[in-house]
Amino acid sequence: MLYLAFVSSIFRKSSLEELRKIMKFKIVGEFNNFLVIDSRSKNAHVKTAGLALVYFVLPLYVNGSVSKDAYRESILRLLCDAAVDKGGNMKLECINLNSKTVYSAKDLEVWEGRRLEKLGYAIDMEKEPVTLVYFALLDMKCYVGHMKVADMPRPFVNPFRHYHTQRLVSRSELKIEQAFDEFAIDGVSGVAIDLGAAPGGWSCYLARRGYDVIAVDNGKLDAKAIRECGVKIKTAKGGRIGTGDLVRGILHVKERSAQAAGRLKVRGVSLLADDMNIDCSSTYKALSRYSQFLDSGGLAIVTIKCITKYLPGHARKARKLFSAGFRIRRMRVLPANRQEFTLFIEKK
Ligand SMILES: C[S@@+](CC[C@H](N)C(=O)[O-])C[C@H]1O[C@@H](n2cnc3c(N)ncnc32)[C@H](O)[C@@H]1O
Repeated sequence: MLYLAFVSSIFRKSSLEELRKIMKFKIVGEFNNFLVIDSRSKNAHVKTAGLALVYFVLPLYVNGSVSKDAYRESILRLLCDAAVDKGGNMKLECINLNSKTVYSAKDLEVWEGRRLEKLGYAIDMEKEPVTLVYFALLDMKCYVGHMKVADMPRPFVNPFRHYHTQRLVSRSELKIEQAFDEFAIDGVSGVAIDLGAAPGGWSCYLARRGYDVIAVDNGKLDAKAIRECGVKIKTAKGGRIGTGDLVRGILHVKERSAQAAGRLKVRGVSLLADDMNIDCSSTYKALSRYSQFLDSGGLAIVTIKCITKYLPGHARKARKLFSAGFRIRRMRVLPANRQEFTLFIEKK
């Protein structure tokens, strides 16, 4: 059985080790962090849902060569061969790893989608899709798979999202968005403290989710981009910062985290976010200073920089340090993480 696997590119070796621990497989095609693997494992997509480095493993049902002269026709034929139920609404997702072809993934999704519609398949963008149909183009071959959206393993970061079409204050914003998806954080709001907030991607995301954000960074926040997202932003004056100073949006405390902590007089913070992008020990030190503001049971999403590429060592160190004051809920390399991982913890 073939599967499409998407693994961390920076920690590629560890990703493959992690995958090997739960199943035997052979790589039959690869491009960066996308792999086509052959395995006897049944339901691999469910088994891999909780892994830390493998983002997803999805079944592939059909594959075949694509011809240069009839490129799109061969893809359409394979998509039809994949036997997707015509009755349910479907969404097409393409991963184009054939760098030498002139078609973009987006073009192929739109064109092939239109042609499938003419053949009687339901592709209605205004309705929730019932089935996700994905096709990967690699080495002049096309691999097709599909899955009912309801059967997608949770937690699941949708890898097919076209992030470039979104308006972002910073690329880092993807990390916090993926953390909320991956860790299934829902329905929480209140006050959030965002450490290392500039230029403001995380703060903006949190404010849009309904948090009153205290953004701590001695650097500058991109006020224009934040306001364009419809979020209010204000810079804190000197002296104490109490609950009454908070705004429905972002309050920027333009100071280093150690100094800012001394000025805060707030209680009942429900979320600590930290994307200062520093090593494990320094992150722990900074977070310990701020955990006094966090309610018991309050959550923290923390990016930890790995100064070497040996991830297990950094992960073990983080578990040891943070276990003192926090319950470790998950540790995960998210698709938007570079040489870093994301820690999701809860105050004891
Ligand atoms: C990767 S950027 C954060 C990006 C941000 N999360 C976003 O979404 O736009 C790291 C930020 O951490 C800040 N930083 C690093 N050490 C800091 C410290 N000790 N106190 C305050 N900010 C710090 C840097 O100034 C930098 O703006």
